[in-house]
Amino acid sequence: MDYSKFYNFCLESYAKLPYVFGQGYAFRPMTLFIELTYRCNFRCNMCQFLGLLEDSRLNEKKGEELTAGEIRSAIDSVSRFGIVMFTGGEPFLRSDIMELVRYASTTRKSYIVTNGILLDNEKSDELTELGCANLFSNGVASVGVSLEAIGAVHDEIVKVPGSFEKIVSNIRYLVKARKKLGKRFPVIGLKCVMTKHNVGQLIELYRLAEDIGVDIFNPIAYYSMPNTDRHDMGGRVDWEKYPQSDSGVDIEILKESISEMKRHSKNSAVQLRITPPGIGVNDVIALYENRMTLSNKICYSPWTTAVLSAYGEVFPCSNYSVGSVRDGKRFLDIWNGEKMREFRLNLKKRHVFPACAGCCFISTDS
Ligand SMILES: C[S@@+](CC[C@H](N)C(=O)[O-])C[C@H]1O[C@@H](n2cnc3c(N)ncnc32)[C@H](O)[C@@H]1O
Repeated sequence: MDYSKFYNFCLESYAKLPYVFGQGYAFRPMTLFIELTYRCNFRCNMCQFLGLLEDSRLNEKKGEELTAGEIRSAIDSVSRFGIVMFTGGEPFLRSDIMELVRYASTTRKSYIVTNGILLDNEKSDELTELGCANLFSNGVASVGVSLEAIGAVHDEIVKVPGSFEKIVSNIRYLVKARKKLGKRFPVIGLKCVMTKHNVGQLIELYRLAEDIGVDIFNPIAYYSMPNTDRHDMGGRVDWEKYPQSDSGVDIEILKESISEMKRHSKNSAVQLRITPPGIGVNDVIALYENRMTLSNKICYSPWTTAVLSAYGEVFPCSNYSVGSVRDGKRFLDIWNGEKMREFRLNLKKRHVFPACAGCCFISTDS
């Protein structure tokens, strides 16, 4: 079953009432992405955060990551039917990660996205034990592991020799651990960003996903937030600038690879999910040619979803801060605060901004 379609349908339905009548207000968030840390043990060449990871100013902030207590209180603001997404940086670099996953999974659903290198057997056992019993129960709903390419190409992209073998072995164990418990959850996904480095290997990666026995293969369209200082976190985003895609991608190979994956998916036990999920394949290709049409696109995300930075800023989108939980404000007060409402109303008026091209939250307006 494609849970993501169901989930996206629920999200859109949840957003629509306040979107139309809410004057900028929204219900509690259904999805909270928590960027737990901007530390990372990889240096993926396409990473949205690479500049941030390499920014010497980050050193000054290293000791300031949100505490487990601050994170728990943000988790409490998420709808009981919602999902807490742990990301980063590399989430497993936080020593309290499993405590946070346990906390989120007791009262809500959780999802963790990782590069997989620190996903040892003990963590896999615990993640599967915490796996949701069914679609409607709390627990770990999904684990997404980034695997960018096959063998040496992967190691070159992430700049860590030997990492491919280690990650594959870790995912194999996770799949085995879940099977041992006879569970369907967490759903296990293999993810990669489509770039010039791996575009010729996508079908091979898909086959590897089948061989390992994961549930989902998720190629993601490359996205880069334009003209933004991710370290600054002050919200200086150039909304009018169309982001330039990974221009080195051979479009013919991309088209061929996508068609081949689509064909292959018809008889595969592993679901193919291309991100952004709300747009078609032709739009994905157009993105790589920097010519995606925006006039038929829409975004409901700020009515359902927020991002919490490692230092407490609340973002409705990528890098636009509407306040910080460290400024004496509760998360929910920021979520429906003046700056957030103003942002929602502005977005509603525009439908999407040029800067949104490629963002995984946009969808085609039907
Ligand atoms: C930034 S990573 C952080 C979590 C973890 N360290 C990992 O490697 O998955 C979160 C997600 O962003 C995706 N990502 C990284 N750079 C991207 C880019 N330029 N465009 C689109 N997605 C990207 C990764 O594939 C991953 O699924």
